[in-house]
Amino acid sequence: MGKVKGLDVGTMNLVGSEQGADGKIKLKLMRHTFLDIEANSFTKSMLKKQKVQYAEMGNKVYILGDSAFELANIMNKTVRRPMQDGVMSPGEADAVPIFGLLIDAVLGKPDEKGQLCYYSVPADPVDANFNIVYHSSVIAGALKNLGYTGKPMNEGHAVVFAELGDKDFTGIGISAGGGMFNICVAYKTIPAISFATSRAGDWIDKNVAQVLGIKVNRATAIKEKGININKPANREEEAVCIYYRNLINYTLVNIKNKFEKAEQMPQFPEPIDIVCAGGSSMIGGFVDVFKEELKKLSFPIPINTVRLADEPLYATARGCLLAGLSEVE
Ligand SMILES: Nc1ncnc2c1ncn2[C@@H]1O[C@H](COP(=O)(O)OP(=O)(O)O)[C@@H](O)[C@H]1O
Ligand SMILES: [Mg+2]
Repeated sequence: MGKVKGLDVGTMNLVGSEQGADGKIKLKLMRHTFLDIEANSFTKSMLKKQKVQYAEMGNKVYILGDSAFELANIMNKTVRRPMQDGVMSPGEADAVPIFGLLIDAVLGKPDEKGQLCYYSVPADPVDANFNIVYHSSVIAGALKNLGYTGKPMNEGHAVVFAELGDKDFTGIGISAGGGMFNICVAYKTIPAISFATSRAGDWIDKNVAQVLGIKVNRATAIKEKGININKPANREEEAVCIYYRNLINYTLVNIKNKFEKAEQMPQFPEPIDIVCAGGSSMIGGFVDVFKEELKKLSFPIPINTVRLADEPLYATARGCLLAGLSEVE
Protein backbone atom coordinates (compact mmCIF):
# COMPACT_ATOMS: atom_id res chain seq x y z
CA MET A 1 0.00 0.00 0.00
CA GLY A 2 1.47 3.34 -1.06
CA LYS A 3 2.04 5.84 1.70
CA VAL A 4 -0.06 8.97 1.93
CA LYS A 5 0.97 12.46 0.86
CA GLY A 6 0.11 15.85 2.36
CA LEU A 7 -0.81 19.14 0.71
CA ASP A 8 -1.22 22.59 2.24
CA VAL A 9 -3.46 24.72 0.05
CA GLY A 10 -2.97 28.37 0.97
CA THR A 11 -3.79 31.66 -0.73
CA MET A 12 -0.14 32.52 -0.96
CA ASN A 13 1.70 29.20 -0.92
CA LEU A 14 1.18 25.58 -1.87
CA VAL A 15 3.24 23.03 0.04
CA GLY A 16 3.46 19.32 -0.80
CA SER A 17 4.76 16.74 1.69
CA GLU A 18 5.72 13.09 1.58
CA GLN A 19 7.84 10.62 3.46
CA GLY A 20 11.05 9.60 1.70
CA ALA A 21 12.43 6.05 1.62
CA ASP A 22 14.74 7.06 4.51
CA GLY A 23 11.71 7.98 6.64
CA LYS A 24 12.45 11.72 6.47
CA ILE A 25 9.69 14.14 5.54
CA LYS A 26 10.24 15.93 2.22
CA LEU A 27 8.52 19.28 1.70
CA LYS A 28 8.12 21.36 -1.45
CA LEU A 29 6.82 24.92 -1.44
CA MET A 30 5.61 26.92 -4.42
CA ARG A 31 3.95 30.32 -4.69
CA HIS A 32 0.27 29.91 -5.48
CA THR A 33 0.34 32.23 -8.47
CA PHE A 34 0.40 32.23 -12.24
CA LEU A 35 0.79 34.56 -15.17
CA ASP A 36 -0.70 34.09 -18.61
CA ILE A 37 0.99 35.30 -21.77
CA GLU A 38 0.24 34.84 -25.46
CA ALA A 39 1.90 31.71 -26.77
CA ASN A 40 4.25 32.04 -29.72
CA SER A 41 7.37 30.14 -30.67
CA PHE A 42 9.61 32.99 -29.51
CA THR A 43 8.22 33.20 -25.95
CA LYS A 44 8.20 29.42 -25.63
CA SER A 45 11.84 29.04 -26.63
CA MET A 46 12.76 31.87 -24.28
CA LEU A 47 10.92 30.17 -21.38
CA LYS A 48 12.60 26.85 -22.14
CA LYS A 49 16.02 28.49 -22.20
CA GLN A 50 15.36 30.19 -18.87
CA LYS A 51 14.08 26.88 -17.44
CA VAL A 52 10.82 28.51 -16.41
CA GLN A 53 8.03 26.19 -15.27
CA TYR A 54 5.07 26.68 -17.62
CA ALA A 55 2.12 24.89 -19.16
CA GLU A 56 0.13 25.45 -22.33
CA MET A 57 -3.64 25.59 -22.52
CA GLY A 58 -5.47 26.78 -25.61
CA ASN A 59 -3.43 29.57 -27.21
CA LYS A 60 -1.96 30.72 -23.92
CA VAL A 61 1.15 29.92 -21.97
CA TYR A 62 0.80 29.81 -18.18
CA ILE A 63 3.84 30.52 -16.07
CA LEU A 64 3.59 28.87 -12.70
CA GLY A 65 4.70 29.68 -9.17
CA ASP A 66 7.69 31.83 -8.26
CA SER A 67 8.67 32.44 -11.90
CA ALA A 68 5.34 34.17 -12.43
CA PHE A 69 6.49 36.89 -10.01
CA GLU A 70 9.81 37.45 -11.71
CA LEU A 71 8.27 37.63 -15.16
CA ALA A 72 5.42 39.83 -14.00
CA ASN A 73 7.97 42.36 -12.77
CA ILE A 74 9.90 42.30 -16.02
CA MET A 75 6.76 42.55 -18.14
CA ASN A 76 5.05 45.06 -15.85
CA LYS A 77 2.04 42.79 -15.34
CA THR A 78 0.37 41.55 -12.16
CA VAL A 79 0.36 37.89 -11.22
CA ARG A 80 -2.95 36.11 -10.91
CA ARG A 81 -4.02 33.89 -8.02
CA PRO A 82 -6.34 30.89 -8.01
CA MET A 83 -7.35 31.73 -4.42
CA GLN A 84 -8.55 34.82 -2.66
CA ASP A 85 -9.36 35.40 1.03
CA GLY A 86 -8.48 31.84 1.98
CA VAL A 87 -10.62 30.00 -0.57
CA MET A 88 -10.73 29.15 -4.28
CA SER A 89 -11.66 32.28 -6.15
CA PRO A 90 -15.05 31.83 -7.84
CA GLY A 91 -14.43 34.88 -10.05
CA GLU A 92 -11.14 33.58 -11.48
CA ALA A 93 -12.15 31.56 -14.56
CA ASP A 94 -8.77 29.85 -14.97
CA ALA A 95 -8.45 29.01 -11.25
CA VAL A 96 -9.42 25.34 -11.40
CA PRO A 97 -7.29 24.13 -14.35
CA ILE A 98 -4.30 26.16 -13.18
CA PHE A 99 -4.67 24.82 -9.69
CA GLY A 100 -4.36 21.31 -11.15
CA LEU A 101 -1.08 22.24 -12.84
CA LEU A 102 0.29 23.80 -9.67
CA ILE A 103 -0.46 20.86 -7.40
CA ASP A 104 1.05 18.53 -9.99
CA ALA A 105 4.22 20.61 -9.60
CA VAL A 106 4.37 20.34 -5.77
CA LEU A 107 3.04 16.79 -5.34
CA GLY A 108 4.21 14.94 -8.44
CA LYS A 109 2.39 11.85 -9.65
CA PRO A 110 0.86 9.41 -7.16
CA ASP A 111 2.94 6.34 -6.31
CA GLU A 112 -0.11 4.27 -7.09
CA LYS A 113 -3.55 5.04 -8.44
CA GLY A 114 -5.86 6.37 -5.75
CA GLN A 115 -3.04 7.18 -3.28
CA LEU A 116 -4.41 9.12 -0.32
CA CYS A 117 -3.58 12.80 -0.08
CA TYR A 118 -4.56 14.76 3.02
CA TYR A 119 -5.11 18.40 2.02
CA SER A 120 -5.64 21.40 4.27
CA VAL A 121 -8.92 23.29 4.36
CA PRO A 122 -9.90 26.25 6.48
CA ALA A 123 -12.70 25.90 9.01
CA ASP A 124 -15.88 27.88 8.34
CA PRO A 125 -15.13 31.48 9.32
CA VAL A 126 -16.91 32.96 12.36
CA ASP A 127 -16.99 36.43 10.84
CA ALA A 128 -17.70 35.98 7.12
CA ASN A 129 -20.70 34.65 5.34
CA PHE A 130 -19.42 31.72 3.33
CA ASN A 131 -18.57 28.08 3.84
CA ILE A 132 -15.79 25.96 2.45
CA VAL A 133 -17.90 23.38 0.59
CA TYR A 134 -17.08 24.68 -2.92
CA HIS A 135 -13.44 25.23 -2.06
CA SER A 136 -12.97 21.75 -0.63
CA SER A 137 -14.66 19.97 -3.54
CA VAL A 138 -12.60 21.86 -6.12
CA ILE A 139 -9.43 20.62 -4.42
CA ALA A 140 -10.74 17.06 -4.14
CA GLY A 141 -11.65 17.16 -7.86
CA ALA A 142 -8.22 18.41 -8.91
CA LEU A 143 -6.54 15.71 -6.80
CA LYS A 144 -8.76 13.06 -8.37
CA ASN A 145 -7.73 14.21 -11.85
CA LEU A 146 -4.12 13.63 -10.83
CA GLY A 147 -4.91 10.13 -9.56
CA TYR A 148 -5.10 10.89 -5.83
CA THR A 149 -7.88 10.32 -3.34
CA GLY A 150 -8.19 13.59 -1.43
CA LYS A 151 -9.08 13.81 2.25
CA PRO A 152 -9.73 17.23 3.79
CA MET A 153 -7.88 18.13 6.97
CA ASN A 154 -8.61 21.19 9.06
CA GLU A 155 -5.65 23.57 8.93
CA GLY A 156 -5.44 24.34 12.65
CA HIS A 157 -5.72 20.64 13.41
CA ALA A 158 -2.81 20.00 11.02
CA VAL A 159 -0.67 22.40 13.08
CA VAL A 160 -1.53 20.38 16.21
CA PHE A 161 -0.41 17.19 14.41
CA ALA A 162 2.81 18.79 13.23
CA GLU A 163 3.88 20.43 16.47
CA LEU A 164 2.24 18.93 19.53
CA GLY A 165 3.26 15.28 19.24
CA ASP A 166 5.26 15.48 22.45
CA LYS A 167 2.20 16.88 24.28
CA ASP A 168 -0.05 13.97 23.37
CA PHE A 169 -1.54 16.15 20.60
CA THR A 170 -3.15 18.37 23.23
CA GLY A 171 -3.01 22.14 22.88
CA ILE A 172 -3.89 25.00 20.56
CA GLY A 173 -2.68 25.11 16.95
CA ILE A 174 -2.95 28.39 15.06
CA SER A 175 -2.26 28.78 11.37
CA ALA A 176 -1.74 32.49 10.76
CA GLY A 177 -2.06 32.89 7.00
CA GLY A 178 -2.72 35.58 4.46
CA GLY A 179 -6.49 35.34 4.09
CA MET A 180 -7.46 33.70 7.36
CA PHE A 181 -6.37 32.58 10.78
CA ASN A 182 -7.30 28.97 11.55
CA ILE A 183 -7.51 27.90 15.15
CA CYS A 184 -7.87 24.44 16.65
CA VAL A 185 -8.07 23.53 20.34
CA ALA A 186 -7.34 19.82 20.58
CA TYR A 187 -7.43 17.27 23.36
CA LYS A 188 -5.50 14.05 22.66
CA THR A 189 -5.76 14.56 18.87
CA ILE A 190 -9.52 15.30 19.00
CA PRO A 191 -10.51 18.85 18.02
CA ALA A 192 -12.66 20.41 20.74
CA ILE A 193 -12.99 23.76 18.98
CA SER A 194 -11.97 24.66 15.46
CA PHE A 195 -12.84 27.79 13.59
CA ALA A 196 -11.41 30.41 11.26
CA THR A 197 -11.45 34.19 11.27
CA SER A 198 -11.17 36.32 8.17
CA ARG A 199 -8.69 38.77 9.66
CA ALA A 200 -5.13 37.82 8.76
CA GLY A 201 -2.08 39.12 6.87
CA ASP A 202 -4.07 40.66 4.01
CA TRP A 203 -6.29 42.43 6.53
CA ILE A 204 -3.24 44.06 8.09
CA ASP A 205 -1.94 45.16 4.69
CA LYS A 206 -5.27 46.65 3.67
CA ASN A 207 -5.68 48.61 6.88
CA VAL A 208 -2.08 49.82 7.04
CA ALA A 209 -2.38 50.99 3.41
CA GLN A 210 -5.56 52.85 4.22
CA VAL A 211 -4.33 54.73 7.29
CA LEU A 212 -1.01 55.63 5.68
CA GLY A 213 -2.50 56.46 2.29
CA ILE A 214 -0.19 54.06 0.45
CA LYS A 215 -0.66 51.12 -1.95
CA VAL A 216 -1.39 47.70 -0.45
CA ASN A 217 1.76 46.24 -2.08
CA ARG A 218 3.83 48.84 -0.30
CA ALA A 219 2.20 48.02 3.04
CA THR A 220 3.00 44.33 2.49
CA ALA A 221 6.62 45.21 1.75
CA ILE A 222 6.95 47.28 4.96
CA LYS A 223 5.50 44.40 6.96
CA GLU A 224 7.68 41.70 5.40
CA LYS A 225 10.99 43.59 5.42
CA GLY A 226 11.90 42.32 8.88
CA ILE A 227 10.34 44.64 11.44
CA ASN A 228 9.67 43.93 15.10
CA ILE A 229 6.11 44.59 16.24
CA ASN A 230 7.38 45.08 19.75
CA LYS A 231 9.78 47.86 18.69
CA PRO A 232 8.35 49.95 15.86
CA ALA A 233 11.02 52.27 14.42
CA ASN A 234 8.82 54.82 12.66
CA ARG A 235 5.25 55.86 11.92
CA GLU A 236 4.80 53.26 9.18
CA GLU A 237 6.00 50.41 11.38
CA GLU A 238 3.83 51.77 14.18
CA ALA A 239 0.76 51.29 11.95
CA VAL A 240 1.72 47.65 11.28
CA CYS A 241 2.16 47.07 15.03
CA ILE A 242 -1.21 48.56 15.90
CA TYR A 243 -3.05 46.29 13.50
CA TYR A 244 -1.01 43.22 14.48
CA ARG A 245 -1.82 43.75 18.13
CA ASN A 246 -5.47 44.21 17.27
CA LEU A 247 -5.45 41.05 15.14
CA ILE A 248 -3.88 38.95 17.91
CA ASN A 249 -6.33 40.29 20.48
CA TYR A 250 -9.21 39.56 18.08
CA THR A 251 -7.99 35.96 17.65
CA LEU A 252 -7.72 35.40 21.41
CA VAL A 253 -11.12 36.95 22.13
CA ASN A 254 -12.68 34.66 19.54
CA ILE A 255 -11.11 31.58 21.16
CA LYS A 256 -12.35 32.75 24.55
CA ASN A 257 -15.89 33.30 23.26
CA LYS A 258 -16.02 29.94 21.52
CA PHE A 259 -14.72 28.21 24.60
CA GLU A 260 -17.22 29.86 26.91
CA LYS A 261 -20.17 29.14 24.59
CA ALA A 262 -19.28 25.52 23.84
CA GLU A 263 -21.41 22.93 25.57
CA GLN A 264 -18.90 20.18 26.06
CA MET A 265 -15.39 21.21 26.80
CA PRO A 266 -12.55 18.94 27.81
CA GLN A 267 -11.07 19.67 31.22
CA PHE A 268 -7.39 20.20 30.61
CA PRO A 269 -5.59 18.66 33.59
CA GLU A 270 -2.47 20.74 32.91
CA PRO A 271 -1.77 24.09 31.24
CA ILE A 272 -1.51 23.67 27.46
CA ASP A 273 0.79 25.05 24.75
CA ILE A 274 -0.15 27.41 21.94
CA VAL A 275 1.78 26.87 18.72
CA CYS A 276 1.62 29.42 15.91
CA ALA A 277 2.46 28.69 12.28
CA GLY A 278 1.93 30.37 8.91
CA GLY A 279 3.55 33.36 7.24
CA SER A 280 1.86 35.92 9.47
CA SER A 281 3.44 34.41 12.58
CA MET A 282 6.92 35.12 11.18
CA ILE A 283 6.99 38.83 11.94
CA GLY A 284 9.52 39.82 14.61
CA GLY A 285 8.03 40.03 18.10
CA PHE A 286 4.93 37.98 17.26
CA VAL A 287 5.22 35.67 20.27
CA ASP A 288 6.02 38.54 22.68
CA VAL A 289 2.98 40.53 21.61
CA PHE A 290 0.88 37.36 21.69
CA LYS A 291 1.92 36.73 25.31
CA GLU A 292 1.21 40.34 26.28
CA GLU A 293 -2.26 40.25 24.76
CA LEU A 294 -2.93 36.90 26.43
CA LYS A 295 -2.00 38.36 29.82
CA LYS A 296 -4.50 41.20 29.39
CA LEU A 297 -7.42 38.80 29.00
CA SER A 298 -8.90 36.48 31.57
CA PHE A 299 -8.32 33.55 29.26
CA PRO A 300 -10.47 30.52 30.18
CA ILE A 301 -7.79 27.90 29.45
CA PRO A 302 -4.55 27.80 31.46
CA ILE A 303 -1.61 28.27 29.07
CA ASN A 304 1.86 26.84 29.58
CA THR A 305 3.80 28.46 26.72
CA VAL A 306 3.28 30.27 23.43
CA ARG A 307 5.77 29.46 20.68
CA LEU A 308 6.32 29.41 16.93
CA ALA A 309 6.29 26.23 14.88
CA ASP A 310 9.65 24.83 13.84
CA GLU A 311 9.21 25.92 10.22
CA PRO A 312 6.13 28.16 10.19
CA LEU A 313 5.52 27.94 6.43
CA TYR A 314 5.72 24.15 6.37
CA ALA A 315 3.85 23.12 9.54
CA THR A 316 0.44 22.64 7.91
CA ALA A 317 1.79 20.42 5.11
CA ARG A 318 3.82 18.41 7.61
CA GLY A 319 0.73 18.04 9.83
CA CYS A 320 -1.44 16.86 6.91
CA LEU A 321 1.11 14.16 6.16
CA LEU A 322 1.49 13.08 9.81
CA ALA A 323 -2.30 12.93 10.29
CA GLY A 324 -2.54 10.80 7.14
CA LEU A 325 0.26 8.47 8.21
CA SER A 326 -1.25 8.02 11.66
CA GLU A 327 -4.64 7.06 10.19
CA VAL A 328 -3.22 4.67 7.63
CA GLU A 329 -0.92 2.77 9.96
N1 LIG B 1 8.46 37.62 7.28
C1 LIG B 1 7.16 37.91 7.31
N2 LIG B 1 6.70 38.79 8.22
C2 LIG B 1 5.39 39.07 8.28
N3 LIG B 1 4.47 38.55 7.48
C3 LIG B 1 4.88 37.68 6.55
C4 LIG B 1 6.25 37.31 6.41
N4 LIG B 1 6.34 36.41 5.40
C5 LIG B 1 5.09 36.23 4.94
N5 LIG B 1 4.22 37.00 5.61
C6 LIG B 1 2.77 37.09 5.44
O1 LIG B 1 2.21 35.80 5.59
C7 LIG B 1 0.99 35.73 4.87
C8 LIG B 1 0.97 34.43 4.07
O2 LIG B 1 1.16 33.36 4.94
P1 LIG B 1 0.92 31.86 4.49
O3 LIG B 1 0.98 31.01 5.70
O4 LIG B 1 1.81 31.53 3.35
O5 LIG B 1 -0.58 32.03 4.01
P2 LIG B 1 -1.61 31.16 3.24
O6 LIG B 1 -1.86 29.96 4.12
O7 LIG B 1 -2.78 32.08 3.18
O8 LIG B 1 -1.02 30.81 1.90
C9 LIG B 1 0.92 36.98 4.00
O9 LIG B 1 0.01 37.90 4.58
C10 LIG B 1 2.35 37.52 4.06
O10 LIG B 1 2.39 38.94 3.93
MG1 LIG C 1 -2.09 28.48 5.22
